[in-house]
Amino acid sequence: MWGICSRTMVKVNPCGLIKPCHLVKPVSSTRVSGRYQSHQRGLPGLPVPPLQQTCERYITALEPIVEGDELQHTKQLLQEFQRAGGLGERLQRGLEKRAANADNWLSQWWVQVAYLEYRLPVVVHSSPGLVLPRMDFRDKQGQIRFAAKLIAGVLDFKSMIDNETLPIEYMGGKPLCMNQYYEVMSSCRIPGVKRDSIVNHAKSSTPPKHITVVHNHQFFVLDVYHSDGSPLTADQLCAQLDKICSSSPHTDLEPVGILTTQHRDAWGKAYANLTKDKTNKECVSAIQRSVFTLCLDGARPPVSEDSHRSIAAVQMLHGGGSSLNSGNRWFDKTLQFIIGEDGTCGANYEHAPAEGPPIVALIDHVVEYTKKPDSPQSPMVHLSTPQKLQFNITPQIKKDIEQAKQDMNILAQDLDVKVVVFGHFGKNVPKAHQMSPDAFIQIALQLAYYRLYQRCCATYESASLRMFRLGRTDTIRSASGASASFVKAFDDSSKQNTEKVDLLVKAVNAHRSYTTMAISGQAIDRHLLGLKLQAAEEKLSVPDIFTDAAYSKALHYRLSTSQVPSKTDCVMCFGPVVSDGYGVCYNPMNQHINFAVSSFNSCTDTSTERMARAVEGALCDMRTLLEQTPRAKL
Ligand code: COA
Repeated sequence: MWGICSRTMVKVNPCGLIKPCHLVKPVSSTRVSGRYQSHQRGLPGLPVPPLQQTCERYITALEPIVEGDELQHTKQLLQEFQRAGGLGERLQRGLEKRAANADNWLSQWWVQVAYLEYRLPVVVHSSPGLVLPRMDFRDKQGQIRFAAKLIAGVLDFKSMIDNETLPIEYMGGKPLCMNQYYEVMSSCRIPGVKRDSIVNHAKSSTPPKHITVVHNHQFFVLDVYHSDGSPLTADQLCAQLDKICSSSPHTDLEPVGILTTQHRDAWGKAYANLTKDKTNKECVSAIQRSVFTLCLDGARPPVSEDSHRSIAAVQMLHGGGSSLNSGNRWFDKTLQFIIGEDGTCGANYEHAPAEGPPIVALIDHVVEYTKKPDSPQSPMVHLSTPQKLQFNITPQIKKDIEQAKQDMNILAQDLDVKVVVFGHFGKNVPKAHQMSPDAFIQIALQLAYYRLYQRCCATYESASLRMFRLGRTDTIRSASGASASFVKAFDDSSKQNTEKVDLLVKAVNAHRSYTTMAISGQAIDRHLLGLKLQAAEEKLSVPDIFTDAAYSKALHYRLSTSQVPSKTDCVMCFGPVVSDGYGVCYNPMNQHINFAVSSFNSCTDTSTERMARAVEGALCDMRTLLEQTPRAKL
């Protein structure tokens, strides 16, 4: 399996091609130009790196994480793989042919193997949560008013997608693929027994005009456009949300939404059973078709201001279990905005269609929008009452819901997530030392891990491939020979500080070089995956380099990390991708850094608290080292 962004270990199954869910044709009544298409056409295709380059870089990447004799064995396997006229060359030719005939040789495969064939629950294991700063309301009325503004803000952003007026984004001066923006509205994942699929109704000839609102586990269809196509105003939305809340008191109705927290095969089976009933099928279809889901969460036990962000991370990631808000969701929905009564606010998104950065760009826009002063009261118009979705619950559905509750509660108990606001410094300090802040943070993570475990581990950082048409991510392997030398030297009292600084500079530079290589499409992981999938495509047996123990070690990411930067003071969060690992997501702001760290309680080797403290310590100690050690001028 591959998962989040996608950092998980992979057991890639041979797979066929999927429907071209990435070949998006944005549909909108107000679409005025082909700006999006012409931009997309101008982007380069994802390259297939040279075979020899990947093999060499793979060996280098293994050095800090496998033993010498294992490395020797892998070298032999790679030599055989690369032999003139051998299997590697054949697969490489196949990939190059595929690249010549596709918009992106990887993207359709990637969605399949990284997401749709990944069978663990999307909750915690794949869908990230996003924690926003606590908003300044503390009651139901405040919740509803804020929610109304948030909906209006999302619709405002959507109009830029529909009109193709969304500003093109750039990275290092290069334009980025904008496709992910066209994938997140009106889309939904659909469970299957072995493989899921995605539908995107924005592309239909009659794109949806409603959202779904869920309150006290009860789902409603809320039309958010008037018949002339104009969006409802915040006032009008407020009145509609009021109606929804007053017609959905807390009851012991079955929380159908909790089914979406299940293992995908179990949910696939339960889904087939649920939608056998015509009414249920219509209810599910209304949710799937909706532009997005708004979750109005019930009150939670009060928490201290200190732990508020960590508790909010739980709420965004999985809802806190069946007795709290896990049933107040439809986790298959690409976009779910979540608002609690106590000012808690954030989102959860299903990962298959997009990475974090486009979601955060949307959130940044919405947060700014909600800060605007209230517009003058809009004229009273008659608005029909939002339709409540009434599910028919059969004994089998009730049984499936009970099982989902139990499984969700076990997962909720197992996940330990903590949000840390590292307040000592932000991007400013590494920048002042002429270092890439991202590389500095990644090396701090390496140091933190080494201090806890006296070893280096395979580490995943997501790198954007959006410089290429339909590009998603590749892996930056943060554990390098240079990072290993630095972390081993750091607490060694026999080493001089000048030497440590030299090693730190080398480690940071090595990370930055890997990043540059990865975002230019020259990293190793997606290429290796492509070679493996190409073998399956050609019905060949799995090449030896992929059954090698070193390959499993390389994919066992005990540190699964990602930077998701934003203008808003928020942080994304996700679970670990291996049972004995950590998930670390961070948002480096100028003067501080927001981190979300997670691990599983069931693993006795890991501790979120210890890791969070170790990261803070590593960052502070690295700064102290730099400040106390004059650097030779070059
Ligand atoms: N000296 C001074 N400043 C430097 C510097 C140096 N040596 N190196 C970088 N900087 C500056 C940059 O100019 C930039 O400035 P800004 O704050 O004005 O924009 C800032 O430091 C940040 O640069 P850096 O820390 O190097 O990171 P980045 O912005 O290049 O991002 C990645 C690196 C890997 C995160 C990015 O390339 C990427 O791929 N992001 C996508 C990840 C993703 O998809 N995540 C979601 C998965 S769900």
